[in-house]
Amino acid sequence: MAKIRDSWGTRLGIIMAVAGSAIGLGNFLRFPAKAASNGGGAFMIPYFVSLFLLGIPLMWIEWTLGRYGGGFEHGTAPGIFHSLWQKNRFIKYFGVIGIFGPLVIFIYYIYIESWTLAYSFFALFGKYAQLRDQAAMQNFLTNFQGLGNDQYFESLGWAYFFFLITFILNIGVIYHGIKGGIEKLCKWAMPLLFIFAIILMVRVFTLGSPDAANPGWNALGGLGFLWNPDFSALKSAKVWLEAAGQIFFTLSVGIGVILTYASYLAKGDDVVLSGLTASSTNELAEVILGGSIIIPAAFAFFGPVDIKTIAQSGVFNLGFVTMPLVLNKLPFAALFGFCWFGLLFLAGITSSVSLAQPAVAFLEDEFDINRKKSVSIFASVAFILCQPAIFFLGRGVVDELDFWGGTFFLVIFAAIEVILFAWVFGMERAWDEIHKGADMRVPKIYKFIIKYITPLFLFFILGMWLWQEWLPIIFMKNIPAANQPFILMTRIGLLALFLILGLLVKIAWMRKKKQMQRIR
Ligand code: PFF
Repeated sequence: MAKIRDSWGTRLGIIMAVAGSAIGLGNFLRFPAKAASNGGGAFMIPYFVSLFLLGIPLMWIEWTLGRYGGGFEHGTAPGIFHSLWQKNRFIKYFGVIGIFGPLVIFIYYIYIESWTLAYSFFALFGKYAQLRDQAAMQNFLTNFQGLGNDQYFESLGWAYFFFLITFILNIGVIYHGIKGGIEKLCKWAMPLLFIFAIILMVRVFTLGSPDAANPGWNALGGLGFLWNPDFSALKSAKVWLEAAGQIFFTLSVGIGVILTYASYLAKGDDVVLSGLTASSTNELAEVILGGSIIIPAAFAFFGPVDIKTIAQSGVFNLGFVTMPLVLNKLPFAALFGFCWFGLLFLAGITSSVSLAQPAVAFLEDEFDINRKKSVSIFASVAFILCQPAIFFLGRGVVDELDFWGGTFFLVIFAAIEVILFAWVFGMERAWDEIHKGADMRVPKIYKFIIKYITPLFLFFILGMWLWQEWLPIIFMKNIPAANQPFILMTRIGLLALFLILGLLVKIAWMRKKKQMQRIR
């Protein structure tokens, strides 16, 4: 029985949806924090090298493989990998990462997204309006997260309330499907997000030099901090790892999400120009908008030394502490604060729905469960999985999830994809497949890059990482003793989740085999 898979409504719709997935908290929070803590200009060279050698090739690979797999009615990596290499019985289990990874990111991403919703309301209703220094604003944040005293919030109640609203909104969107839910959301949320970002950018550039004693501390100085190249940093392995990780994270590649989105394309739909457009839109939002809000604003008020220290003290400090503080010093603070957190929320929700979709598509495609039921199953499981991230945030659970879901498996999965594409499927066939229905040709040099440079670069990063960090991570060397039991439990939980998904893949394939035998 042929079932009808969901599809995208328009070409602009899918580009908006992929750009919506890519443009997220990563662009406006993670990127400025990574750039600032790695010394600004030192970060941007490895960042752009990674964009051209890893990010863009993987974007094309995932669009192509996704569309190819969709032709076999597979929307997730186990089925897509199996269609590529039918003789190999094990390859589908490598594809488990393509469901597991997005689910793991979803668990903590949606909680952080809910803070942005909460803070939009706090800004509008002046809940933090009287706070004037870094320490007080930091205290407000930790208090909200249930980690400090109860000066501003008596319990985790408000955080939990906003989490519930955010969760329900996300589930509501995916419940309405690809065209009716995700595409519709992205079509209005993306333009609004750009409007908010441009308003903030203009505001930051009209700040002048707020500190009379330091006339060089202004928005332009902030741009200099971000853009003046520092060639000496090219020798640092850590900067390379972080830059490559940021490229994957920001483009949403190397984790299976774009595979799933592209599986809803039709056979003759262009992937070359669409993939490039979505990536360019993301980069515009990251380096132009993401780089022109927090960094120049924080630079103008705190200068080059403090900005680095603040960024190094935690990924969220620039966004949830410094930025509201800067805006508090300006007229119409409530409005600009609302713009800032509203921007983050829109960026967040258009990304989190994409993280939910692979698990839903897996249930639909491989178990023939209808969408509404699949979404209900997903919602029940994801809701339970979110709880440790909320209640054990202070124990480092979110950092642990981000490391495995948002860094480690990204590199592994990307390496598997590129090998399958260029070496198993074969570069000649792959090149033809990319160009089916294409509106432009991929520059020829990418044939060489995809076949040799991208995999070598990935292996190099992985090897370097294993060499430098494997043992301390396994033995939890950098984790305080009191948190170690929580981290261990998180790891056991993740392993169990991975094994359960592997088992589901096995069951799905056995079911299909039986169905085929019955038909014969
Ligand atoms: N790209 C999103 C961001 O920059 O915030 C995060 C993300 C979404 C990562 C989807 C991975 C993913 F599959």
